[in-house]
Amino acid sequence: SSPLPIISQEEVTRHRSLKDGVWVTYQGGVYDITEFVSIHPGGEKIMMAAGGAIEPFWSLYAVHNQEHVLEMLSAYKIGEL
Ligand code: HEM
Repeated sequence: SSPLPIISQEEVTRHRSLKDGVWVTYQGGVYDITEFVSIHPGGEKIMMAAGGAIEPFWSLYAVHNQEHVLEMLSAYKIGEL
């Protein structure tokens, strides 16, 4: 399998709506979570991170600090910063 593409922060920032797609970054990875937004257990709060890093939000909402949450996120990976 070929490596995932390098994606710029600028490109990520252009994806912060359901229309344009919702991308986030986490520890150097880029994730397209557009399809996940409507099934997020925490509801629309997830859109606060759209187009940027999720770390600041996950340190506020420690419920994400679990293996199964990271597994879920990994399914949406599309590239590296
Ligand atoms: C809950 C995933 C981003 C706020 C959850 C849960 C999952 C999840 C799996 C349920 C955890 C459990 O109960 O075991 C994700 C993923 C995210 C993301 C994959 C990013 C791609 C965010 C962001 C915020 C947020 C950015 C806030 C700004 C919350 C809150 C809950 C929650 C408040 C608790 C809901 C409740 O139990 O009432 N999230 N989340 N999440 N999330 Fe997220």
